[in-house]
Amino acid sequence: LDPLIDLEAEIARLREEKNAVILAHYYQEGEIQDIADFVGDSLDLSRKAAATDADMIVFCGVRFMGEVAKILSPDKTVVIPDAEAGCSLEDSCQPDAFRRFREQHPDHIAVTYINCSAEVKALSDVIVTSSNAEAIVRALPEDKPILFAPDRHLGAYMQRITGREMTLWPGSCIIHEQFSAREITKLQTQYPEALIVAHPECPESILSVADAVGSTRKILDFVKNAEAQEFIIATEPHIMHQMEKDAPEKTFIPAPGADGGCDCANCPFMAKNTMEKIYLAMVNEAPQIVIPEDLRLRALKPLKRMLEMSP
Ligand code: 13P
Repeated sequence: LDPLIDLEAEIARLREEKNAVILAHYYQEGEIQDIADFVGDSLDLSRKAAATDADMIVFCGVRFMGEVAKILSPDKTVVIPDAEAGCSLEDSCQPDAFRRFREQHPDHIAVTYINCSAEVKALSDVIVTSSNAEAIVRALPEDKPILFAPDRHLGAYMQRITGREMTLWPGSCIIHEQFSAREITKLQTQYPEALIVAHPECPESILSVADAVGSTRKILDFVKNAEAQEFIIATEPHIMHQMEKDAPEKTFIPAPGADGGCDCANCPFMAKNTMEKIYLAMVNEAPQIVIPEDLRLRALKPLKRMLEMSP
């Protein structure tokens, strides 16, 4: 790649030429968020992907998000900057093992977090994201037990706030598991006025000290609207790019891990995407998301149910 190439300008040109829309998650590098047509949480990004009239969706997030876009918009070309941008939650829940888990609990409703493969979605009854999980769980018939996969922390949090009994798949997110409640409490002595915000993929030890728990979108809204001026952020730190844009006068402090440092919370999968790779993906129309039609239709059912049940 020519080192002198103006990537922003070239991406803008390709966007016009190919009638592309660039969707980015809040965990992407700031420069990627800045060139996106839309930045959102998992639910808002799914809705955008379903509604777009672009010919090409350039999905800057992780692979399962690109898959969701393709499942909802099969006629669009969906490209992702790096085919290796996976997800530890997805990796923790392989389709064969998940099928056996379902077979062991035949009378249960399978509620599955969107952070999973298309195959696992296809084996599920309804998909949820962290912004709609509570409403969807509350709306499920009360006489039916629930299987929740793959994030045990989000599942346990849903159990606590809805009172619904659930059998949890033992998966977790490698980055949200790293935060240390002990180190956060220490940090609070330095910033006694700071509010703590946390993503529900964090373990209970973190959620129990948080002032607000929610999806990336909900955390952003909370921080923007709160009167407090300082916040400790227990989720992937690239979200702070949007916080700083929304409220430049406020102070955002990344939550530390057990060693007191904050680097552990950078998602290595989200970090695979770069401006160069976005440019190349648009030029080459690859890597492209391809999903066999029978699998797509099976995965579409629980995703559609999610969109219908989302407030
Ligand atoms: P939300 O953006 O829905 O909060 O999800 C975050 C996430 O898990 C990304 O992998």
